[in-house]
Amino acid sequence: MLCAPGTRGYFSEEKHPAESRTQPPTVVVAIIARNAEHSLPYYLGALEALRYPKDRVSVWAATDHNSDNTTSLLKEWLTVMQKSYHSVEWRPMDRPESYAGEQGPKHWPNSRYEHVMKLKQAALNFARKRWADYILYADTDNILTNPDTLNLMIAENKSVVAPMLDSPGAYSNYWCGITPQGYYRRTAEYFPTRQRQRVGCYPVPMVHSTVLLDLRKQGMKGLAFFPPHLDYSWPYDDIIVFAFSCRAADIQMYLCNKQRYGYLNVPSKPHHTLEDDRLNFVHLHLESVIEGPRMFASRLVHMLPKQRDLLGFNEIYLINLRRRADRRDRMLALNSSDIKLLGVDLLPGYEDPYSRRTLTKGEVGCFLSHYFIWKEMVDLKMDKVLVFEDDVRFQANFKRRVLRLMEEVEQAKLDWDIIYLGRKQVKLDQEEAAVPGVHNLVQAGYSYWTLSYALSLQGAQKLLNAQPLSKMLPVDEFLPIMYDKHPNKRHKSHFPKRNLQAFSTRPLLVQPCHYAGDPEWVSDTETSTLWDDDGVPTDWRGSHKTMKGAGPPQMLSNSYKDEL
Ligand SMILES: *[C@@H]1O[C@H](CO)[C@@H](O)[C@H](O)[C@H]1NC(C)=O
Ligand SMILES: *[C@@H]1O[C@H](CO)[C@@H](O)[C@H](O)[C@H]1NC(C)=O
Ligand SMILES: *[C@@H]1O[C@H](CO)[C@@H](O)[C@H](O)[C@H]1NC(C)=O
Repeated sequence: MLCAPGTRGYFSEEKHPAESRTQPPTVVVAIIARNAEHSLPYYLGALEALRYPKDRVSVWAATDHNSDNTTSLLKEWLTVMQKSYHSVEWRPMDRPESYAGEQGPKHWPNSRYEHVMKLKQAALNFARKRWADYILYADTDNILTNPDTLNLMIAENKSVVAPMLDSPGAYSNYWCGITPQGYYRRTAEYFPTRQRQRVGCYPVPMVHSTVLLDLRKQGMKGLAFFPPHLDYSWPYDDIIVFAFSCRAADIQMYLCNKQRYGYLNVPSKPHHTLEDDRLNFVHLHLESVIEGPRMFASRLVHMLPKQRDLLGFNEIYLINLRRRADRRDRMLALNSSDIKLLGVDLLPGYEDPYSRRTLTKGEVGCFLSHYFIWKEMVDLKMDKVLVFEDDVRFQANFKRRVLRLMEEVEQAKLDWDIIYLGRKQVKLDQEEAAVPGVHNLVQAGYSYWTLSYALSLQGAQKLLNAQPLSKMLPVDEFLPIMYDKHPNKRHKSHFPKRNLQAFSTRPLLVQPCHYAGDPEWVSDTETSTLWDDDGVPTDWRGSHKTMKGAGPPQMLSNSYKDEL
């Protein structure tokens, strides 16, 4: 019956299951961590987020010579994550805290180079023994914010390949030139590559920090980190030893910069302390906050380091229009209908006190940048954040002074919404009462600029409740209205609830880098097109209110004089 003609035949019409797909290649991820408490949560957060099946990944992790909590953080993470990975190999070593002859945690005596070479070699041996297809080395201050980085590097099909990592400056994880002695050589290609003016995957003499090795390629058998090649006479340094090994084995290193893959911390100088390293990392973190590809901390590890790195704030925001031409262009490309779509409308009757023009697109963009921070703060229920605008100059001991200020604010149980760290006091003769129990803090009078301020959750909520987008004026006029120190009664009448509790540091902790009139001064908010004019670019060289020492009353336009 079964095989009778006309019935459902086993062999002719039955659908075969499709051939099942090949599993992705196997990868060993090598983690070598030392004094990395500040970056580890972000580093591990990025590893967790990699879009690659974790059961095809084994983790080889070692720590050594730590004076911070690196070992327990890493262990905490591996304990949870070992269920997801194919296997985990754990080589902790906390003591001694330092190497023989080491003058500080950022100093590299030969004993340290040698230890790192041996660790890298041990990871390589582990991967070879397991017949892993790839090994990915990634330093613990390299944050792979692009979750496809591993797939993208594998797809390049190179023996040794690195994703170009970004830093706040020119530093990255490759060289375009090497001297006959094995040192870094400046080349014409470096900057165009770093700035992605040329984009691709390029043969280079050196990649380091985050590097993927394809162990299936035949030529890879001869590579080694330790011991160095018999002919080796170049500097005793793990990355140079490896570059030499590749060269001796006829293996070409490649660097890819087709996408943004992540960040790397700028290395501290040999005499630097761990604190300098952490500060560099705070800078990097800020960069990630501004630039888009954000770093996210793993939720599986202890977050104490974050609190400390961010000066006790939940987040530090940097609003950066001037230095980032691309952001500025995007902002200025907003046309009047885009702006209206966001629900933006001008405060009726607003005009600049000096020029009598209305808002520029730059001013709208600047307001929106602040507004979106307030909104994110409320959405994520952040207790307090710190906001900086572009191009600020920090006063000496900035960090220590902020920490002390916030400590005293807390001890005094001050009910605060906003604390200016940088601003321009409009009426210099206006009395500003000192705050009892807190050094260097006053009640804020009428102020211009929003260079830097601390904002509390309650403060952000009050600013949003005022619904300022639909009656917009420059953000540095809006804030004084909200704490009821603005002289213009008509403007104030649009915001009935003006109970923001505003303070200012005195002396200020932040100054502008350039003042109006300085040769280098260009203001995005002041020189851009009027907000509702999509045709004519205004060549407005700045409102006088940003001028150094501009004494207001005599320069105020009539609309303001009425109110004073
Ligand atoms: C170190 O980390 C462990 C686990 O991650 C945590 O329980 C401990 O409180 C941390 N110690 C310090 C001093 O941060
Ligand atoms: C990868 O490169 C090798 C040479 O190393 C070549 O034989 C192979 O075909 C390439 N694979 C793909 C998928 O392009
Ligand atoms: C504004 O730009 C958008 C695209 O960004 C376009 O669709 C719209 O027509 C433009 N409006 C005006 C008034 O030019």
